[in-house]
Amino acid sequence: MSLHVPVLLNESLEFLITDKSGNYFDATIGYGGHASEILKRLNSNATLVGTDKDEKAYKHCKEKFEGDSRVKIFNTGFTEIKRVSMIQFIDAYDGIFADLGVSSVQLDDSSLGFTYRTGSPLDLRMDKSKGKPASYIINNYPLEKLIEILKKYGEVKNAGRIARRIIERRGVEKIETTLQLREVVEGAIPKHKSFKILSQVFQAFRIYVNNELEELKSFLSDAVDMLKPGGRLVVISYHSLEDRIVKETFKYESLSCVCPPELPVCVCNKEQRLKIITKKPLVAGEEEIKNNKRSRSAKLRVAEKI
Ligand SMILES: C[S@@+](CC[C@H](N)C(=O)[O-])C[C@H]1O[C@@H](n2cnc3c(N)ncnc32)[C@H](O)[C@@H]1O
Repeated sequence: MSLHVPVLLNESLEFLITDKSGNYFDATIGYGGHASEILKRLNSNATLVGTDKDEKAYKHCKEKFEGDSRVKIFNTGFTEIKRVSMIQFIDAYDGIFADLGVSSVQLDDSSLGFTYRTGSPLDLRMDKSKGKPASYIINNYPLEKLIEILKKYGEVKNAGRIARRIIERRGVEKIETTLQLREVVEGAIPKHKSFKILSQVFQAFRIYVNNELEELKSFLSDAVDMLKPGGRLVVISYHSLEDRIVKETFKYESLSCVCPPELPVCVCNKEQRLKIITKKPLVAGEEEIKNNKRSRSAKLRVAEKI
């Protein structure tokens, strides 16, 4: 049984690989599910550069792909795409792939606190060497900032009520575990909505502590720079905030002019850099969803460099 079942595997690789001898970048190599399949489809002249923020995932893949000289892996964020490519003397890729979010292994790892089902420290960072754990934010940030995080990164409707409960509770004792946060949230919302809202609250703090949305924007822009003409950018996202960023970036990069319509001539000098391949995102079929619940929310978008 694999540690993490890769989502939309065939679909993503059909789009990604255009040259069997090319250079490829797996931005979120995770437990190497997609990477293994990419490698099977490439020949011996190809290169696959991979990054992952998570140290355990990195170590796993280092071992898994040891002995395959086509693979170069870095324990760093995908925003480092240009730096790690320079180290490998790669100036352009035939395909860049990102399977965003968290792996099943991370969800099950009690030291990370990604799940509210078991009591674990409220950390939520994928790279513990950077930034502050979620418990710091929850115990120290003012009410308005907590409300903003819940609304902006979790689209939580009851943000004000939940944030006020957090402030009340932390006045009594520090909120250090996932179960404490769960209790606070459950005390602030109707019972029948608790699973949905709990997921949104944990998602909000996770996105905030990992700076996920800003990093995604920066990565996508660099990824477009790093593609060869005809090269493909293939992204799988798992929630609407991420998907919106991917969709909007693809749209913006596919426009040749962004001047206001009332201008008689174009003055923006905008360059069209992408052609959108998937007009609508691809989603998992019934069979895949039945076998792998994580695939339920997956959306796959593909664009090609012009
Ligand atoms: C859904 S999993 C990828 C699974 C992988 N495709 C596989 O088949 O095993 C997402 C991975 O992205 C990593 N990740 C999330 N944000 C990242 C970032 N900014 N830079 C690099 N890796 C990141 C996580 O640590 C996690 O291992």
